[in-house]
Amino acid sequence: MNLDPCTYVIFGATGNLSRIKLMPALYHLDVANRLPDGTRIVAIGRRPWDQDKWLSEVRDMVTAKAKDEFDESVFQRFCTRLVYHQGDLGEAQCFSQLATLLNDKAKFAHNIAFYLSISPSDFGPVMEMLSNNQLFNEELGWRRVIIEKPFGYDSESAHALQKRISHYLTEEQIYRIDHYLGKGMVQNVLVFRFANVMLEPLWNRNYIDHIQITHSEEIGIDSRGDYYNGAGAMRDMLQSHLLQLLTLVTMEPPASMEAESLRDEKVKVLKSIRPIPKEAVHGHAFRAQYAPGHINGERVNGYLQEANIPADSITETYASMKLHIDNWRWRGVPMYLRTGKRMAKAQSTISICFRHPPLQFFRDTNMQCMTQNWILLGIQPEECIRIEMTVKEPGLEMKTRTSSLDASFRNEDEKAIDAYEDLLLDVLKGDRSLFLRFDEVEHAWRIVDPILQTWAIERDFIATYPAGSWGPEDSRLFEKSDHFWRSTLTPECK
Ligand code: BG6
Repeated sequence: MNLDPCTYVIFGATGNLSRIKLMPALYHLDVANRLPDGTRIVAIGRRPWDQDKWLSEVRDMVTAKAKDEFDESVFQRFCTRLVYHQGDLGEAQCFSQLATLLNDKAKFAHNIAFYLSISPSDFGPVMEMLSNNQLFNEELGWRRVIIEKPFGYDSESAHALQKRISHYLTEEQIYRIDHYLGKGMVQNVLVFRFANVMLEPLWNRNYIDHIQITHSEEIGIDSRGDYYNGAGAMRDMLQSHLLQLLTLVTMEPPASMEAESLRDEKVKVLKSIRPIPKEAVHGHAFRAQYAPGHINGERVNGYLQEANIPADSITETYASMKLHIDNWRWRGVPMYLRTGKRMAKAQSTISICFRHPPLQFFRDTNMQCMTQNWILLGIQPEECIRIEMTVKEPGLEMKTRTSSLDASFRNEDEKAIDAYEDLLLDVLKGDRSLFLRFDEVEHAWRIVDPILQTWAIERDFIATYPAGSWGPEDSRLFEKSDHFWRSTLTPECK
C-alpha cells in the first residue's frame, strides 16, 4: 500500500512514553522503509533544547532499544525527518508558532497526525489551541489525533472529555490508542479463533468452564507515582487493556476485519457484561497493594515507600475481578481478570479452561492425573498458543499425563514488532480497527465504575502482598472450589 507522506506532531515528546516507545517505533518503521518519503516528526517539548540536543537525545532513545541492530545510515536519514519545537502548552504562542511551522508546505506534508502523549487534563486545552490555529482544518489533507489512555477517570469524566473533544474533531479523526491491541499475539487471538474451524464449535458455555486473564509485572511504579497514585491498577490496566483482551476472546465473529464491524462486536460483549451491584462488589473484585519484598533476589520497597506516594495511600497495585457475560454464548462462564505490579513474574496470559470430561469410563483404573483441557495464549514475554491434552503414559499401567500441543507461530529469525510500530503505521493508513471507539471506552467504564466508587469510600484498609509474590489471597472470587489462578504456561500435572 502506497501511503501519502505525513507529519507526526508529538506532544510530550521528551516524556517517558516517547522515549521508550514512540521514537524507537518510528525509527524502526524507517528501518523497515515503511515511513513514506517526506514524512517528518515534530517533537513538542518544554525543555530549552536546540535541534542538535534533540538529535542526540533521540539517538539515545533509539540505541537503548535497537542495541545491536542500530544502523547509522538509517539513523542519519531518520534525523532529517526530526524537528524540535520548544514551547509551553499553556502558552498560545507555542501553537501559533507551530501553525507557522507546519504551514510551510515546502517542508511539511499536508497530512498531519497529532500524538497527545500528555496529561489527560491537557487534552481539551491543547485541542482548543490546535483548533483555534486552524490546525484541524482538512481542506488540504487529513488531520488525525491520537489520544493515550486514560480516556477519563470514570464514565462521567469520559463523557465530559468526549463532549469537549467532539467539539473540535469528528469521530473519524480520533484515534484512542490501547497499545495492547497492537501486540502481535493479541492480533493472533483473532486469527486463532476465526481461522481455525475446529475451535468455533467448542468456544462457548457448553465446553468452556471459565476464562482467566492475567497481566503481572515485576516492575513497580518507577517514577510514575503522581499518575499512578491517582489511577491504580483497576484504571491503569483492567478497565483498558484487560477488558479489551476479554472482548477479543469472547466476541462473536465480526462480519469482517473492517474497523466498525470489529468494534461493533466488541461493544456487544461489553454491553452484555452483567452489571456488578455496589453491594456485590466484594464478591466480584479484590484490591491490594505491594509491601516490601524481593524481586529477582533483590530487596525492593513497598508501594508506600515509593517516591511521591502519600504514606496513607490506599491505591491498589493489584486488582482482580470476576465478570459474567450474559449472552447465549457465555452465560454461566466466569471470567476472571487480574493484574498486579511487583509480582513474581512479568507475564500476560489468557488461559481458557475447558469443562471436565465425564470420567465414568476410567472409573476402574488408578489414573491420578486427569486435568481439564486448557488453551493458553501467551501474550508476553513468551508469545505462544498451547493446547493441553490428556494422554496415556507409555507403559503397562493406565496412567495419564498432560501433554501440551504448541502452535508456535514465530520462527527464530522472525522478530517481534513493538505494538506501537503497528499502531503508528495504522494511523498513516487511516485504519482505526485497532483503536477504540468512544462507546467501547464508555461501556468499559460502566463495568468498573461501581467497583471504583465502592473502593473510593472504603478508605480504612487495603490488603497487601509481598513484592515478588503472586499477589494476595483473593480466592473468594472463584465460583468453584477447583478454580485457581493459573500462573504457568507449562502443564500443571505432568
Ligand atoms: C500501560 C500502563 O498502559 O501499560 C502501565 O500504564 C503498564 O502501568 C503498561 O506497565 C504495560 O504495558 P506492557 O506493554 O509493558 O505490557
